[in-house]
Amino acid sequence: MKALSYPATALDWRERARRRLPRFLFDYLDGGASAEQTLAANVQDFCRVRLRQRVLVDVGAVDTRARLAGQDCAMPLALAPVGLAGMMARRGEAQAMRAASSAGLPFTLSTVGICALDEVCAAAPAGSPPPWFQLYMLRERAAVRALLDKAWQAGCRTLVFTVDLPATGPRLRDVRNGLAHQGARAGLLRAAQVLARPRWAWDVALRGKPLTFGCLTEQVPGGRDLNAFKAWVDAQFDPTVSWRDIDWLRQHWHGRLLLKGILDAQDARAALDSGADGIVVSNHGGRQLDGVPSTIAALPAIAAAVGGRTEVLLDGGVRSGTDVFKALALGAHGVLIGRAWIWALAGGGEAAVRQLLASWQREFELAMMLTGVTRAADIGAAQLETGSA
Ligand code: FNR
Repeated sequence: MKALSYPATALDWRERARRRLPRFLFDYLDGGASAEQTLAANVQDFCRVRLRQRVLVDVGAVDTRARLAGQDCAMPLALAPVGLAGMMARRGEAQAMRAASSAGLPFTLSTVGICALDEVCAAAPAGSPPPWFQLYMLRERAAVRALLDKAWQAGCRTLVFTVDLPATGPRLRDVRNGLAHQGARAGLLRAAQVLARPRWAWDVALRGKPLTFGCLTEQVPGGRDLNAFKAWVDAQFDPTVSWRDIDWLRQHWHGRLLLKGILDAQDARAALDSGADGIVVSNHGGRQLDGVPSTIAALPAIAAAVGGRTEVLLDGGVRSGTDVFKALALGAHGVLIGRAWIWALAGGGEAAVRQLLASWQREFELAMMLTGVTRAADIGAAQLETGSA
């Protein structure tokens, strides 16, 4: 992309983010697990879905609205939780919350965010709903209970419980550029990458408040250092978590519960039986097990198994408003987006996220018009070209 051009797509914002961020941060948000085959498949498999163009239908009034987790949304889309998002732009989660709220869409705050819940809630314009809160189960259940209490008191009513991370996947870019390492050499490598990106350093490190670790700031021993935080979080992921813990969670969380990270129809049925209010079909953006199917390929079987009985959201590889439409045509009720919003945030802050969401809203509306559907709720298999996907 030329320096003077206007970013028009998520990939344009990705390019801006790449130029702006220190290498270790860009790779952290851009990369996937191992050889990144699942990451690539998430995107490529969307390209294979073919839509059915229809003409001479009255599409003068098109209604893109949807209800996700009981919340009215301008379109069937929410911002996915992204850890460390607040390092990509100054007070990044607060900026993204503002952009999402003004677009009429939910924002999800990660357990491992930089901004605290109160700050993110305060960022929302008056009258807009609070963010959704994403939970990783930590070994210290007392800390989890404290997080849940905090989220509830802050007004959050939707909990996104991420179930596909019993341990962190092998993110090889993080190994190569020093984020996955501690010690003097890795520190020097990262410092050099920061110095090579003065605009980022100015925005995030100098003008911002000191680094905090969102909801976990009080929990992390050793305080405000990225290494200490990462080491603590990695040690806290609990590989013993099982369906029994959903019962535990249900006792301590009385709002809506979405299970994020379902990729299998049998697990989707178990999620339904566990009392969850919905699922997010997800492979963590291709960041966990390389070699599992793309989410859009996994969706139809899962939607067939549980779609009529529970809310089915999908994330992974959604890169345009048309992709949102495709996910709905294949059986999702809505989507979450990860990299698309974080690229925009890193590339141009709140204004960029607003612009991205507005352009997707238009694109989604246009896909409805050109397939002859006037209500988002009516999008389904009839909008797929036969033999597609
Ligand atoms: C994530 N994801 C994630 N998920 C989660 O439940 N908690 C988290 O803290 C994070 N952190 C995170 C960081 C980064 C940099 C990325 C790219 C992703 C996964 C995220 O919520 C979502 O599932 C994927 O990003 C969806 O795929 P796309 O939209 O990025 O292709």
